[in-house]
Amino acid sequence: MSSVLEVFNLKKYYLVRTGLFGRSAQVHAVDDVSFRVEAGETLSIVGESGCGKSTVGRTILRLVEPTAGEIYLDGWRVDTVPIQGMRRLRKKLQVVYQDPFSSLNPRLSVRDIVAEPLENFGMGQSRSEIDDQVADLLDKVRLPRDAMKRLSHEFSGGQRQRIGIARALAPKPDIIICDEAVSALDVSVKAQIVNLFTDLQQELGLALLFISHDLAIVEHLTHRVAVMYLGQIIEIGDRRTMFSAPKHPYTQALLSSIPIADPKAKRNRLVLNGEVPSPINPPSGCRFRTRCPQAFDRCAVEMPKLAQLRVDGHQVACHLHEGQSD
Ligand SMILES: Nc1ncnc2c1ncn2[C@@H]1O[C@H](COP(=O)(O)OP(=O)(O)OP(=O)(O)O)[C@@H](O)[C@H]1O
Ligand SMILES: [Mg+2]
Repeated sequence: MSSVLEVFNLKKYYLVRTGLFGRSAQVHAVDDVSFRVEAGETLSIVGESGCGKSTVGRTILRLVEPTAGEIYLDGWRVDTVPIQGMRRLRKKLQVVYQDPFSSLNPRLSVRDIVAEPLENFGMGQSRSEIDDQVADLLDKVRLPRDAMKRLSHEFSGGQRQRIGIARALAPKPDIIICDEAVSALDVSVKAQIVNLFTDLQQELGLALLFISHDLAIVEHLTHRVAVMYLGQIIEIGDRRTMFSAPKHPYTQALLSSIPIADPKAKRNRLVLNGEVPSPINPPSGCRFRTRCPQAFDRCAVEMPKLAQLRVDGHQVACHLHEGQSD
């Protein structure tokens, strides 16, 4: 398999002013994150609000400049490419946002919304050629072709998200970043859009970077999962291992709070104490130690590194699991 997206040691620190005297401080939004997404696979990034998920997506899209690190798309460096070069890369890299209400221009017809990237990337010679492609894209997202003539605000949330997905698919990207792409939708609609993503992935061999705080959703569509806490990936691995035998105490706590469908299966509910610490002043050593029920002395002084476990490709950053690595 080849990697569509590779991220190495990504950091994003935001400079902010704090307190009465407006002293400047750094928010460690993303702090040394590395991962790759293979062609045709879904990697989900999960974690509580503020852990840096969207910042990872935004730096890949060049909506914010990274503080450090390297990002590659199909082997091409993204984070240092000049803006003209970024245009070509953006064709391969598309995004679907959470809120289909604000991300679609209400004054444009569905045809024009979906046609925009086709026109921008010069993907049609004539109007009728573009219309044909728009019609095809509407078929792909299971919207009726007569939707073309209507305005996006005439559609429901789920249908608008389909319009947003059609637009993202238009330039035939290799990867789509979905930032909370189903979070704002009703439960039944959520399931339909999740199924649509799964179908599209099979049909088109797309890769997805699926950013979500909702583990129950992620379990339905992902191949691998990366769990973030305070700007860092603390565990990454296959869906099956992650959901059946999570290693990090934080992942265990996150998973214990999601409902399980199988009534025979048991999950002990672990409740996390306290609030997530400030990313301006993260704890020394392991960032999770202030809330970890199993923390010991070493956790305060030494930051655990992501280490490969014997289970295929599964990595965890936790002192409890050292010595189990290969
Ligand atoms: N432009 C900005 N300036 C300063 N701080 C920011 C900025 N954008 C994000 N942050 C901070 O960076 C951290 C990570 O934010 P981010 O939006 O990436 O988190 P998230 O995991 O996507 O959260 P959510 O689940 O709520 O969407 C947070 O502490 C946030 O307040
Ligand atoms: Mg976010």
